[in-house]
Amino acid sequence: MKNSIASGPIGVFDSGIGGLTVAHAIKELLPDEQLIYFGDTAHLPYGDKSTAAIQAYSIKITDLLIQKGCKVIVIACNSASAAAYELLQEYAATRAKIINVVDTMIDLVSENRQGRSIGVIGTRRTIATNIYHEEIKKSIPEAEVVQLATPLLVPMIEEGFINNKISHDVLSKYLGIEQFETIDQLILGCTHYPLIKNEIEQYFHGRVEVLDSSITTARHLATYLYEAGLMNNMKDVQPDEFYVSDLTEQFARSAKFFFGEPVILKQHRLWE
Ligand code: DGL
Repeated sequence: MKNSIASGPIGVFDSGIGGLTVAHAIKELLPDEQLIYFGDTAHLPYGDKSTAAIQAYSIKITDLLIQKGCKVIVIACNSASAAAYELLQEYAATRAKIINVVDTMIDLVSENRQGRSIGVIGTRRTIATNIYHEEIKKSIPEAEVVQLATPLLVPMIEEGFINNKISHDVLSKYLGIEQFETIDQLILGCTHYPLIKNEIEQYFHGRVEVLDSSITTARHLATYLYEAGLMNNMKDVQPDEFYVSDLTEQFARSAKFFFGEPVILKQHRLWE
């Protein structure tokens, strides 16, 4: 990226706080990088929005992150990755590298090209775009891809219904469909889902490999920074910043749960 500098922060954005799972994986792997996180809580959920609406929000957020000097912008939302990745690449051009969570997952799945059956769960929007199906088929034509929209999972996780009877029942209903009986891998096509990864693994009794894009995306980012010579080499890492477009007590509470450590959220309205 012509205009990027190594000391610039890493921008990460999502429709809300689910993308904090990706931000946390990045922080774990790259502790010397400054993060600037933006959660568009005013427009959450993206999973039920039109492509045009998600594109408009994503452009506005990308603009903000570029103004803050971000060298890379990670779209930590499957719905926005499916709806706006190409647009954001064009918009950012040489000002910032754009990384999305769908492509990093496809790279991971493609590493093992044996013919097999792959399940995908995600929001209505992500599944409706058919992006995982199309991209997997491009790299593994012989793979069978079974997709399912699981819209109850985002509110369930945000309300903290994890590892209890409610989450068990909801997961059994979704994962118990006949088409999932023969899958050997399941893609978590939503950045909220890493928080229930263990529960999903337990549901399948280890029979199915559950793939989560947070760690994969962090590794992809690390490789990019290294190859582009953009790893931060300043000794003093600036403090991370976390913004949301609408700040409520509920988001403030949940942020710690998603990031795994205390987070101070600040409000930044996208449109004043
Ligand atoms: N975190 C978003 C994603 O990965 C889902 C939440 C939403 O629908 O806004 O798609």
